[in-house]
Amino acid sequence: METILKLDGEGGSLALLGEKNDDDKWTYFIECQESAMPDILDEEDQDLLPLPHKKEIVGTDLRLALEKLGRHWRHLRPIEVHPDFGWSVYKQVLESPPIHLLHWKRVCLGNNPLYRLAEWISLSNFTVVLSGAGMSTESGLPDFRSKDGWWRRLDPHQVSNLDTLEDNYELFRDFYMYRIETVERHAPHLGHRILAKWEKKGRIHGIATQNVDGYHAAAGSEKVAELHGNIRSIRCHRCGRGAAVSDFLSKRNCSACQGRLRPNVVLFGEMLPEKAWNQAMQWFRSAELVIVIGTSLQVAPASQLPQLTSGRTVYMNMEIPDRLYRFDLAIQGKAQNLLAELDEMLESCLL
Ligand code: APR
Repeated sequence: METILKLDGEGGSLALLGEKNDDDKWTYFIECQESAMPDILDEEDQDLLPLPHKKEIVGTDLRLALEKLGRHWRHLRPIEVHPDFGWSVYKQVLESPPIHLLHWKRVCLGNNPLYRLAEWISLSNFTVVLSGAGMSTESGLPDFRSKDGWWRRLDPHQVSNLDTLEDNYELFRDFYMYRIETVERHAPHLGHRILAKWEKKGRIHGIATQNVDGYHAAAGSEKVAELHGNIRSIRCHRCGRGAAVSDFLSKRNCSACQGRLRPNVVLFGEMLPEKAWNQAMQWFRSAELVIVIGTSLQVAPASQLPQLTSGRTVYMNMEIPDRLYRFDLAIQGKAQNLLAELDEMLESCLL
């Protein structure tokens, strides 16, 4: 049971508690924690709460649970808010602002890492993003190193390197045909579209991505450096001539020299595309704020980009590794949810 919101005041204290199940779904409870509660209830509120020291389940709807408490925040002050709920609580409090609004803002958002990042974004003149496979898992594409990732089922050096392309082309082509078809069956999600919107609004100034799915560009981002290439761009491995994705998917060879077709992705042992890498280095060297989203940072040289900046660095990821290179802020969570809440903060007039 976790404390979502705790209110205190002359008449006693009230708490909204929450219990999260294995599917990350919360159930909420209201608990009176002081016997003096009924004294401060307005006449029409007397029916609102159970007798003191009783915990009452109020269901799985946070808005409803907060409404049940809502009539009390005129009397009581917040003394504790769960950092993951600060923004939701503060937004709802604003709908019927109590007198101590500044105090509510401090308690709800003071140690809210996303709110701090929203402030940094609004203050930064040059913000860049480094994204990894975790940015596309909510589109339906597996990442590489999580429990359901590609490299949990396949040896990367077996399917994604030059030797395989030359010595076991069937295996290489089957792996990349499957990945292209997966990318084509799915699409960018809200998080990709939010980053594209932020580029248009001047909130971010470039995305260096390790992803080859092309989803940032497909969502509308224009300043994208594809460090590991793009899986839907095909070339002949022998003469370098471009080919259509349909040629590769139909298992045709190069129309000019009959060489083997391959996606323009960086295989293990290959160099990164020079233009994309130089662009990324220039962005990260100039950045006032670097936001890293959905990457384990285990593959160089992309993983070294955040170290190039003298600005602030933020790591947003499902898993926060124990040994995380010097980041100013680490925010655990899913890319799409975090970006959606950040966007709501940036669109509000609360920064
Ligand atoms: N939201 C946030 N983070 C997520 C999400 C999500 N929805 N889903 C997964 N993650 C996190 C995982 O916890 C993991 O730490 O994203 C990270 C993905 O890490 P990897 O699977 O290692 O992928 P990435 O870092 O992009 O790999 C880099 O390795 O094999 C090469 O070329 C390949 O570009 C790839 C490179």
